[in-house]
Amino acid sequence: MSDNQLANKSQAWSALFSEPMSDLVKRYTASVGFDQRLWRADITGSLAHAEMLAAQGILSAEDHAAIQRGLGEIAAEIEAGQFEWKLDLEDVHLNIEARLTERVGIAGKRLHTGRSRNDQVATDVRLWLRGEIDEIGGLLSQLQRVMVEQADRHADVILPGFTHLQVAQPVSFGHHMLAYVEMFARDAERMLDTRKRVNRLPLGAAALAGTSYPLDRERVATTLGMEGVCQNSLDAVSDRDFAIEFSSAAALVMLHVSRLSEELILWMSQNFGFIALPDAFCTGSSIMPQKKNPDVPELARGKTGRVVGHLVGLVTLMKGQPLAYNKDNQEDKEPLFDTVDTLKDTLRIFADMLAGLTVKPEAMRAAALKGHATATDLADYLVKKGLPFRDAHEVVAHAVKTATQQGVDLAALTLEQLKTFDARIEADVFDVLSLEGSLNARNVLGGTAPAQVRTQVARHRARLA
Ligand code: ARG
Repeated sequence: MSDNQLANKSQAWSALFSEPMSDLVKRYTASVGFDQRLWRADITGSLAHAEMLAAQGILSAEDHAAIQRGLGEIAAEIEAGQFEWKLDLEDVHLNIEARLTERVGIAGKRLHTGRSRNDQVATDVRLWLRGEIDEIGGLLSQLQRVMVEQADRHADVILPGFTHLQVAQPVSFGHHMLAYVEMFARDAERMLDTRKRVNRLPLGAAALAGTSYPLDRERVATTLGMEGVCQNSLDAVSDRDFAIEFSSAAALVMLHVSRLSEELILWMSQNFGFIALPDAFCTGSSIMPQKKNPDVPELARGKTGRVVGHLVGLVTLMKGQPLAYNKDNQEDKEPLFDTVDTLKDTLRIFADMLAGLTVKPEAMRAAALKGHATATDLADYLVKKGLPFRDAHEVVAHAVKTATQQGVDLAALTLEQLKTFDARIEADVFDVLSLEGSLNARNVLGGTAPAQVRTQVARHRARLA
């Protein structure tokens, strides 16, 4: 018995099978426990398929009408939570089809003409994923908007920029926020690019070889708003590279969230004290009354592991499969679902949390004044006075050494002291040795000068409007 004759699978697949499945095997092979989540895509795909079968004269108008009515009723049942999902019917596809036949009779048995669950499931996953990608795109935009506003508010707030987690040069907090905006903008671009390859139609590939019915696959693609038809039936039913691509784009988003989380966690520790997160995103300790822990960023950092794990899972799932469809592919769903859920929750929560982020400019400033953050500015100053950069670098190293020995920042040395390192140093040196001087000097495209940050804020606002 092929899938299209299947209405009631509670006994066995066909006359070919002489023993029933054990409960364990049923549970092991069934996917309805999780793939019922695809029901809407399954019904949308079936409606488009039936419409095309009717247009091609493969299905009568009467049967088509019955199928349309039945699927509409089933959608309402599922929405109302009244649909009874049966493990015996293995997956979402067979459950819906069996119910259709229960409701509309023989027409229901005709729906599966020219189709297999192999092309059906690939279509369903693609339709579902397309919708999720669109939602994720919206969430990425929202997160970026929040960060752009924080950047605008704090364009003039100075914190130490680090390399090797050692104080390097002063940067604007706004500039720091916009670094993440760039990352999330690329993430959104990647999602959109992936969408193009997700949004292609496998239906019509049937089990693996195509079908002998005169299907109009282009018509179905148009009905479903897809950008094209998969051009090889073997490939259409078997590859899940679109899911892997999505999963990889999702892993990158989480990677960026995780890096940001790490910074938020560090910044919130007493040793930095750069920021406070709203209480609603922190938890206390059951034993230490003074504690406020950044649980949300910590969890996001932790959940990055599971999303990256799902990517590895999907890649591994695919790697040894011969053409065409193999049941291995049923295992693509749980990692995909969990990736989408984790990503969406994380993006939502980060947008809310970052909107309420409090910045502590004094603590940032004090930290920026600690590690001779303007040493490069002094070197650049000497270069402008005619010293070759390598020599200037050496002069400043001596000055830093002296300042360190005296336990002060480079900017706290007197003009007299500074002059001992190079006679070219004048009173105007303090313009560049100050944090503001250093920041304002970096007024180059992509630099940290507040003027540049504001230009970028304007660009992002226009892009995200
Ligand atoms: N539940 C299956 C899956 O998720 C549907 C396709 C099953 N096809 C088959 N020939 N057994 O992949």
